[in-house]
Amino acid sequence: MDRVIPSSVVPEIGGIQALIAKQDPDLSLQQAFYTDPSVFQHDMERIFGRHWTIAGHIGSIPKPGDFFLTEIGSESIIIARGQDGRVRALANVCRHRGANVCSAKSGNTRVFSCPYHGWAYTTDGRLVSARHMGDEFDKSKFGLKEVQSRVIQGLIFITLADEPLGTVRLEETLNEGFGPYDWTNAKVAAREMYRVDANWKLTVENYVECYHCAPAHPEYSVLHAIERPREQIEGMYSKLADRARELGIAINSSSHWDGSETGEEATYCLRYPLTDGVETGSRDGKRVAPLMGSFKEFDGGATSIHCGPTSFCLAYPDHGVIYRFIPRDLQWSDMEAIWLVRGDAVEGRDYNLDELTWLWRVTLDADKAIIEANQRGVNSRYYEPGPFAPMETNEKRYVNWYLKEIA
Ligand code: FES
Ligand SMILES: [Fe+2]
Repeated sequence: MDRVIPSSVVPEIGGIQALIAKQDPDLSLQQAFYTDPSVFQHDMERIFGRHWTIAGHIGSIPKPGDFFLTEIGSESIIIARGQDGRVRALANVCRHRGANVCSAKSGNTRVFSCPYHGWAYTTDGRLVSARHMGDEFDKSKFGLKEVQSRVIQGLIFITLADEPLGTVRLEETLNEGFGPYDWTNAKVAAREMYRVDANWKLTVENYVECYHCAPAHPEYSVLHAIERPREQIEGMYSKLADRARELGIAINSSSHWDGSETGEEATYCLRYPLTDGVETGSRDGKRVAPLMGSFKEFDGGATSIHCGPTSFCLAYPDHGVIYRFIPRDLQWSDMEAIWLVRGDAVEGRDYNLDELTWLWRVTLDADKAIIEANQRGVNSRYYEPGPFAPMETNEKRYVNWYLKEIA
């Protein structure tokens, strides 16, 4: 991997705590947060070693033996459905001498056969074959290690933590927010992975603010009222609430964006209005798939839920999108979009894949470009932290939450 790390940036004397102490809460983060390998290591421990992240949706692995790989930092994790039907996260590390046992990105198999010396594991992680190890060898002691996971509304959450944060509030928020869209029984229509040459925080910071929407995302901005300052669209929020009441949709915005000291994963639900006359997030604002769950009509809104530090979901009445931002290295992140439709929807008959995915493909193409431009500028000797705009309240909140989490 080619990294661009300016030589002027070296770990601060006094380390990360000194850096945090120097940070002005009204300004963007100091350069070292995006360029210093020791901050990245610290992020991996404090953020990814404690919090939950979405690996995908169960709709990607409907049958026993289905699996896909996911990566966080240097860890490779297999998400598999066992022959017993249960979804598990398994460390992709052979219990013999540690080779990755699976290299296929996704597929269906009965066993993961290690390419090195041929040990074989079932999709529920049991070691079932170990060549020439003798009759005394107890295979039951050498299953693949299980990574903690939870399935909520069909979303597969994983964490690298041994003692992870609680998910009670996350479950409440997701069940209330996405239950009406029946995400549990949704189908995964498409997944698209983007490599972004930037620190993971720049990818997330870009997602959590919409100050950039008007200049960077004209396609998104004509459809989503949230690209305008809140005071200009206050009336649209109350109209959306009235409409939801009329339709019997009981989803409320809620905020549990708490720190880890509460013992619970942070979560946040925002119901927001679409532009007048817009039904969904699509090229022309019109439906692209059958209505989901209990929706009988379009309600003129979308439901956005933030699930911990790097996973975000957006539900329109006819489809949903999951956004994952995953650190791979200091200035290398994965950004993935996963599109959901109603469980029984059939491609070609009920939806056209190009139309379904068009809006967020153009939006994420633009995001990749602006995030990478952001990283290049942040790497410059001329970068200095700048002031947050009033429209970046959410970003400011996120950055200050992050600082507390790593302190
Ligand atoms: S490392 Fe997997 S069988 Fe040897
Ligand atoms: Fe964006």
